[in-house]
Amino acid sequence: MATMIALPRPPFFMILFLIVLLPSTCRSADPDPLQDFCVANLNASISVNGFPCKPVSEVKSDDFFFDGLSKEGNTTNIFGSKATRADVLAFPGLNTLGLSMNRVDFAPGGLNPPHTHPRATEAGVIIEGKLLVGFVTTTNVLHSKVLEAGEMFVIPRGLVHFQLNVGEGKAVSLTAFNSQLPGAVILPFTLFGSTPSIPNDVLTKAFQVDENVINDIKSKFAS
Ligand code: GLV
Ligand code: MN
Repeated sequence: MATMIALPRPPFFMILFLIVLLPSTCRSADPDPLQDFCVANLNASISVNGFPCKPVSEVKSDDFFFDGLSKEGNTTNIFGSKATRADVLAFPGLNTLGLSMNRVDFAPGGLNPPHTHPRATEAGVIIEGKLLVGFVTTTNVLHSKVLEAGEMFVIPRGLVHFQLNVGEGKAVSLTAFNSQLPGAVILPFTLFGSTPSIPNDVLTKAFQVDENVINDIKSKFAS
């Protein structure tokens, strides 16, 4: 006859913790939609978390199609790269659907500078060229690799990352996000181009450099 082994019962608070927290770790970054679609009315006077829906009677097929990523971005800037966004602001049909995309064009040697997306994990594929793709963990470990056309990468939500064109010619990548508006904190602009400006006392101490170095960098990123 089989003997029954009495397992210790988990404490009540541990069960409560698992019930409350586990489902939230499995959820996508944006909340789930409550209807088929909710094409954003970007000009509505009321403000909600996201955007109010256009009346269904005014929704057209065109609301669900977007050609903004078919055009090459202009890379004539200090970084030699251009991220063209297909987020809810550019493509209102994405409202409440929890995803968006970017196209990033790189001139030879171009850099998509270190940045983070506070509201999304990013997955990308190289369409053309050769990119060094890297991100840094919260324990300051750099993970990086040179990728070529057809190869993919993933950037965990919120981590600082970059792409550098290390090929001979132009490069292009397509990226996807699990948020309709992932946001981009682009570190050079955030730290040196904010309005008002972060005080030099903060930046000289943080970077352990003289004020003239900070002023020099600020002059490049002033908005
Ligand atoms: C690449 O990092 C992007 O944000 O599109
Ligand atoms: Mn990114």
